[in-house]
Amino acid sequence: TMLPSSAVGVCHVLVLVLCLSAAEDFDWAKNDRGSFYYGTFPAGFSWGAGGSAYQTEGAWDTDGKGLSIWDVFSHKKGKVQQNDTGDSSCEGYYKVKDDVSLMKELKLNHYRFSISWPRLIPTGIKSDHVNEKGIQYYDHLIDHLLENKITPIVTLYHWDLPQVLQEKYGGWQNISMVNHFNEFANLCFERFGNRVKYWITFNNPWSVAVEGYETGEHAPGLKLRGTGAYKAAHHMIKAHAKVWHTYDTQWRAKQKGLIGISLSGDWGEPVDISNQKDIEAAERYVQFYLGWFATPIFHGDYPQVMKDFIGRKSAQQGLGTSRLPAFSPQEKSYMKGTCDFLGIGHFTTRYITQKNNPSGRSSSYFTDRDLAELVDPRWPDPGSEWLYSVPWGFRRLLNFVKTQYGNPMIYVTENGVSEKMLCTELCDDWRIHYYKDYINEMLKAIRDGVNVKGYTAWSLLDKFEWDEGYSERFGLYYVDFRNKNKPRYPKASVQFYKRIISSNGFPNQREVENWRRKAVETCSSSNQLLAAEEQRSSAANILRLIHDPLTSHMEMVTEIVVPTVCTLSILLSAIFLMFLLRRRN
Ligand code: NOJ
Repeated sequence: TMLPSSAVGVCHVLVLVLCLSAAEDFDWAKNDRGSFYYGTFPAGFSWGAGGSAYQTEGAWDTDGKGLSIWDVFSHKKGKVQQNDTGDSSCEGYYKVKDDVSLMKELKLNHYRFSISWPRLIPTGIKSDHVNEKGIQYYDHLIDHLLENKITPIVTLYHWDLPQVLQEKYGGWQNISMVNHFNEFANLCFERFGNRVKYWITFNNPWSVAVEGYETGEHAPGLKLRGTGAYKAAHHMIKAHAKVWHTYDTQWRAKQKGLIGISLSGDWGEPVDISNQKDIEAAERYVQFYLGWFATPIFHGDYPQVMKDFIGRKSAQQGLGTSRLPAFSPQEKSYMKGTCDFLGIGHFTTRYITQKNNPSGRSSSYFTDRDLAELVDPRWPDPGSEWLYSVPWGFRRLLNFVKTQYGNPMIYVTENGVSEKMLCTELCDDWRIHYYKDYINEMLKAIRDGVNVKGYTAWSLLDKFEWDEGYSERFGLYYVDFRNKNKPRYPKASVQFYKRIISSNGFPNQREVENWRRKAVETCSSSNQLLAAEEQRSSAANILRLIHDPLTSHMEMVTEIVVPTVCTLSILLSAIFLMFLLRRRN
């Protein structure tokens, strides 16, 4: 009897070793930053752009929509830059046709948007009331996309929790969110699932947890340091798993769609790749970011390093249990493998080095990691303070995902760059560079064997950028927010991205250089147009302030009298000329 049991033991060890080596063969020490790669993407690669409900729709209290935590948060003074709100934003709610034609102009294969939970279920609780007008809006959007051969990729939760759920239960601090979210998701599958085949449960739950419940920079603005983020994340992961199972058991056979999650992850690169401590710190950075959500979903539990670090620090603080909640064995097996595709939102990279944080009384997600983040001052930082352009980090992250989670199917759900300038600038040469280099690193990752199926530029339009308000513009299209009609203007990057899409990659150096030159050339004329338009509207605004009747008088003079007089005089002189010529003959 000794022999078989030791054989079983050996087998176990072997399996364990195999699993470990399969999961950990990411090569930290090898960072190949080779030159630009000319080549194309696999046939059928899907090109898209994205946005989200609260950031673009506006119509915050229209047609029976309930309040979300972002409506309430942005209406409080001092929460958002300039006290901006998403009340009207891009007025996307009224501009479905216009916006779909912008997507057609780009020849997009897919468009990623999110459904506002309180627009469908005003209180968040399905048994209270379902708002048919809200359903109609998304029906209209989905149908219009499909008529134009654009595949909808739909996010169920892009941060706009119904306010009632926050007030009644404390939002994601409360386990009851799991069932409410599941009912909302089920409603979406029932009403839209015949047409929508790509579902994303959560967008960037890291931000919801850390910025919503730890730092309080985002709605609901809670500062529950050291515990709030972990608890919120725990409930979101459970909610994700539940919704995946709902789809899997009730809808998949009939609707044949896929359901995934969209995780954000900055890349963490060891400051010194020959220093084991730095490598461990960088790995911790990535595990606390992407791994926090991906590891439970793919492997059934939190990353070991999170359990170790948070557990040890909790003990040092004299707490009886870890601040990181634990999953039961049943929950682990229920969670494992609940992902048909992985959405990746990626923007930037940090250098990471080891740094001990003595665990005092105050604890936080940030100090739990024992590391310091650094940036290279030579990295370009065109827009947002946090967003440095480091294209090679993207390839590293994608390869990390491949090795850690068994080469899953990936859709890049967000990638892009902002500009901070408030002035008019359609010639966004730096954005062209960003897209060109990041998309190229994604191409290299595909050559490395990473299973990337699609790419989503973030974002189609300039829009409400959360606590930064309208001060950061991520759009391919510029939106003039000062004008009530919110007109859209193409930036140069529209022309450039369009070429990448139509060539399905980068044919050769000469051509790609040409695209860039042409894009920048053509944009300067639209730039002038927009500048003139803005001058006109701000001049009109000033006049309107001084004296309203005067403005309308001025407008009548410039818009009606002057053009009419000009046209008439041209006509008259033409007739006169003809008359003269005839007489000569
Ligand atoms: C990720 C968020 O999901 C998105 O809504 C936001 O616009 C981008 N980050 C840029 O900050």
